[in-house]
Amino acid sequence: MLSFLHMCGISGIINAKHAADFLSGALDLLSTRGYDGYGIAVQGSGSIKVGPKDLKTLQEKVAQNQLTGVTGIAHNRWATHGIASQQNAHPHQSGPITVVHNGDLDNYQELKKELIDLGYTFSSETDSEVFAVLVDYYRKELPFFEAVEKAILRLGITSRFAFLVMDETTPNTIIVARRGSNPILWSHDEHTGITYLASQSSVFHGYVQTYQEVPEGHMIQFGINGVEQTKNFTGEMVQEFKTRVLDTSHQVSEKTGKHWMYQEMKSAGDTIRNAIGRRATLDQGIVLGGIEKPEIQERLKKINRFIIAGCGTSYHAAQIIAMTIEEVAGIQASAIIASEYIYRTTVFDPETTALICISQSGETADVVRLMTEWKTRGILMLGIVNVPDTQIPRLTDAGIYCNIGPEIAVASTKAFLGQVVCGNLFALWMGQQRGLSVAKRNEYIQELLDLPAKADLIFEQESEIKNLAEKFSQVKNFLYLGRKYHAIVAAEGALKLKEISYIHAEAYPSGEMKHGTIALIDEQFPTLVIAPNDSVFKATMNNVAEIRARKGRVIIISNPDSELVSSDDQIVITIPKTSEFLSPLLTVIPTQLFAYYATLALGYDPDCPRNLAKSVTVE
Ligand code: F6R
Repeated sequence: MLSFLHMCGISGIINAKHAADFLSGALDLLSTRGYDGYGIAVQGSGSIKVGPKDLKTLQEKVAQNQLTGVTGIAHNRWATHGIASQQNAHPHQSGPITVVHNGDLDNYQELKKELIDLGYTFSSETDSEVFAVLVDYYRKELPFFEAVEKAILRLGITSRFAFLVMDETTPNTIIVARRGSNPILWSHDEHTGITYLASQSSVFHGYVQTYQEVPEGHMIQFGINGVEQTKNFTGEMVQEFKTRVLDTSHQVSEKTGKHWMYQEMKSAGDTIRNAIGRRATLDQGIVLGGIEKPEIQERLKKINRFIIAGCGTSYHAAQIIAMTIEEVAGIQASAIIASEYIYRTTVFDPETTALICISQSGETADVVRLMTEWKTRGILMLGIVNVPDTQIPRLTDAGIYCNIGPEIAVASTKAFLGQVVCGNLFALWMGQQRGLSVAKRNEYIQELLDLPAKADLIFEQESEIKNLAEKFSQVKNFLYLGRKYHAIVAAEGALKLKEISYIHAEAYPSGEMKHGTIALIDEQFPTLVIAPNDSVFKATMNNVAEIRARKGRVIIISNPDSELVSSDDQIVITIPKTSEFLSPLLTVIPTQLFAYYATLALGYDPDCPRNLAKSVTVE
């Protein structure tokens, strides 16, 4: 069984003009994997390591040519063993050996003790440094390759790792070893003689067009001619290297303002437009190339139940998509949290059930694990994913890419919009197959096509939302309420507030509040209510009355035709109206802006919230 337990970003390069330039750029791109420390080591030139969020200092030193040389390795850390600090940042060095590591070495304490008894000293709290010292120890007697192999054989059986190892006495050489950890990709350019290594293909953009993956359980020595020596230490047959073509449709755009999060929220209209693309037109209805292969269409004909899986924001998108599939296509659908269903007994008929996995990164460990386990049960697997060329799309039978470009800020904003739009397209596509009338279909498509302009209009209220966020940023707790689709938007808005501003926010379906949570309400405990003028508006407003009767202050996100007016204890933000199932795409935007401005008011960096990373590749 595959299990992906680690985050961290890894990169390496052999035989470049200035290794550190490539590695410095890679650290930027791999910040999605962790920012608890960064480091670069270049053969013959030493290393520079910095603590959390200090990438700029490192990059300035690289720009001043403080690391010259042609071969090097780099690392973005997400702390596991040892606090986030410069000392614990990788690469770790012992004698001539330098190592970057992604993973977890289960017997590192025993090995460390053994090495201390042999006279070695340690400068970090990490398990990774133990491996560097162990290789150094064996290197005294053995050639580089054998020394690394011997050190790997000393690691406990449940240890998981991706290592890049350099030896000062073996120039232009990096050994890679991988077991049970995230992928290590490589590409050798025969014209330049340069070899590139990274844990994520986006690092290769602008350098090479194709790449390969170091197979699970393998150790490979790379040099100026590419692969020089391989070894499979799990005893299985050496696997063939499969060549993959780099997807160039997904490149990071330039940062135009102070924060990626702002840029990504502000692109809401374009994001919705791009996610729709040419997939929804009044003439042809919904066309989804990714799932229109004959064998997938055949299987979809038999499906009478969708299970939609995701984590965090993607789980919220999954919930909205499930509700929409039931409402628009009339097919049973429910959303699940991937990390829970890995451990549950789930009953389904693989002939008539399909799993849809929702993920921005395409790498989320909990989703990958669920897919790996359910794959053996023969269920049809579809995906709604943003980053192409990643593990989740590779595991699916077919899918829909969001086509919204990279999302860089840790907190998902535009990805949520992209996922929900793709879910809407899928629900309408299924509706088309199951008797949704052309008139109704076109009414929905027109509403979808009108959404980008409506999303842009919301930003006319930006300064009002900013003022509100500043005013409320001092509170310690927030309640977020909504009903039906907007109970989910409430959960998403609360998650956004928590993860970047660190204000505690609790979300509830508004009707459920009176069954206990209402006890919390007083003047100090405000509520943000998402209540567009839809089929549940009146019911939600009853709950607003209950809160106001208990002196709770409320902020309400609604539509102009709800005719709500602001007063001392009730502030109303009005946004354009659309069909009920599409309205989360609009109502979520003020909640994102609110979280962003509360975070700025408190002096935090919204792009890199504490303890988080963009791709959650730990279980
Ligand atoms: C919240 C957030 C996370 C992710 C979650 C799933 O703002 O970004 O909750 O949504 O970690 O990640 P993906 O979508 O990459 O599978």
